[in-house]
Amino acid sequence: MKGAIDINRLPKHVAIIMDGNGRWASKRALPRIFGHKAGMETLREVVKACSDMGIKILTVYAFSTENWNRPTEEVSYLMNLLIEYMRKEINELNKNHVKIKILGDLSALPQITKEEVEKAVSFTENNTGLQFNIALNYGGRAEIIHACKRIAEEHKEGKISKDEINEDLISDYLFTAGDIEPDLIIRTSGEKRLSNFLLWQSAYSELVFVDEMWPDFNKKQLEKAILEYQNRDRRFGLVK
Ligand code: IPE
Ligand code: IPE
Ligand code: MG
Repeated sequence: MKGAIDINRLPKHVAIIMDGNGRWASKRALPRIFGHKAGMETLREVVKACSDMGIKILTVYAFSTENWNRPTEEVSYLMNLLIEYMRKEINELNKNHVKIKILGDLSALPQITKEEVEKAVSFTENNTGLQFNIALNYGGRAEIIHACKRIAEEHKEGKISKDEINEDLISDYLFTAGDIEPDLIIRTSGEKRLSNFLLWQSAYSELVFVDEMWPDFNKKQLEKAILEYQNRDRRFGLVK
């Protein structure tokens, strides 16, 4: 794709399905966990790039509700990697005014992971730079069910009438409440599916699929994906 990024037409919200860590490692005859470790370095670079570019929201898919069904050792490794990530990155993130928000149910996480994550959220809560959403124990369907239950509860209590239930109200009950919907969703590793990511919010997102495994992704490829986004014609169901 030709041309340079138009800095005035950046996507406000970029979401990324960070996929391919295991295959990256297998290709090198390494255990899968080495791929997750390498993927953490990519994440550092991509967060910095989004922050520097002036993107408002970056959402990354870190762990899905389905990922619990992976081998126990891999799940524990990922839970520990989260702790390591928070401890290593928190000062740098804070220095760059990044505000961390979690999408997902933290209560199912190991206590120590949960505490470290919550600490990072409260440490950065007053920051006004990039909003960094981490989807953790996140599933789009679980999120919608969670919203429905809360709405049903408040309906029962007489706080919400049936007629008040509309798209805006449902959006307000999702983990992404208050966030603009993703303009661009990138998935690495060549897979072309959403895997339960932001099902409600992605209604009009532009999808960009790249072949690189997540540990091989970098700032250059992020820029290429943004350029592709800028060459799309977003119609939102209308005619030009
Ligand atoms: C993405 O990489 C990271 C997580 C899902 C936690 P994978 O672990 O899915 O890597 P592949 O897709 O098996 O290569
Ligand atoms: C999606 O990737 C979840 C994350 C990137 C955290 P998966 O690797 O779990 O998705 P599938 O299994 O290929 O659909
Ligand atoms: Mg995968």
